[in-house]
Amino acid sequence: MCQDNSKSKQSALIISNEEIANNVYKMIIKQEQVANEAKPGQFINVYCKSESRILPRPISLCEVNREEGLVTIVYLVVGNGTKEFSSLQAGDRVDILGSLGNGFDIKDCKESIIVGGGVGTPPLLELVKNLPGKKKVFLGFRTGSFLVKEFEKYAEVHIATDDGSVGEKGTVTDLMKKVGVQGDIIYSCGPKPMLVAVKNMAEELDIDAQISLEERMGCGIGACVGCICKIKADTEIGYTYKKVCKDGPVFDAKEVIF
Ligand SMILES: Cc1cc2nc3c(=O)[nH]c(=O)nc-3n(C[C@H](O)[C@H](O)[C@H](O)COP(=O)(O)OP(=O)(O)OC[C@H]3O[C@@H](n4cnc5c(N)ncnc54)[C@H](O)[C@@H]3O)c2cc1C
Ligand code: FES
Repeated sequence: MCQDNSKSKQSALIISNEEIANNVYKMIIKQEQVANEAKPGQFINVYCKSESRILPRPISLCEVNREEGLVTIVYLVVGNGTKEFSSLQAGDRVDILGSLGNGFDIKDCKESIIVGGGVGTPPLLELVKNLPGKKKVFLGFRTGSFLVKEFEKYAEVHIATDDGSVGEKGTVTDLMKKVGVQGDIIYSCGPKPMLVAVKNMAEELDIDAQISLEERMGCGIGACVGCICKIKADTEIGYTYKKVCKDGPVFDAKEVIF
């Protein structure tokens, strides 16, 4: 499903906005339409109130509660936009647009492997809730961790951190090799080096992988070509460019040229 251009900015009520780890915030927003339409792996554009920050910030949907019209986002404070979001409180309102992007294509597999890194972890929670069959989750962080208990409700979880502060010291893909991965498909979201390793691993195992790209974005709605990535294609040059915000953010790993 590609982005629907008929969607417009909506004002949403903030139910809560709490720091859940160092500089990582969990915000619950009431917005029935977004909650109703959302699928795992999609994102919303979150708008700043400050006029000096016109461009929206894309943030993945971490959890969705259709019955109550709630969506949860989990974000790391990295710059002025996310800093502004962290100052918002329950009862405040925030403008959002969504849900955007294609999301994961949930396959009816017996065993799925889920691999997340840093702020690529949040969209995988709603995915894990919705996946059929057995699920094994591998999460990697620089230091510390977040959302682990939430994932443990639905799957076996393995953690790696760069500094060894939680779980195994090292990269999440090294941990996967150590634990041993067996499954029919990999779903992944995280930083580029991790996605490259996941793509290679899927090729070695000869299984499919869907990867969600965390490209820098401008408009977030397909209008500025600020987010293009190279995708294999049957053209003279062997590839074409696609927009991560509109055609993605989830792509078949086999198609992505890093
Ligand atoms: C599809 C998608 C989903 C994302 N989901 C999450 C999430 O769930 N949690 C989370 O913490 N972060 C997520 N990010 C990254 C998040 O969008 C950036 O951290 C955020 O936009 C930074 O804004 P800032 O104003 O704080 O930082 P600044 O660096 O000041 O941002 C300046 C500009 O660059 C853009 N920008 C900066 N970094 C990124 C980035 N990594 N990706 C896209 N645009 C960027 C901003 O949108 C803004 O227009 C996601 C990014 C994408 C593309
Ligand atoms: S961010 Fe503008 S086209 Fe994707």
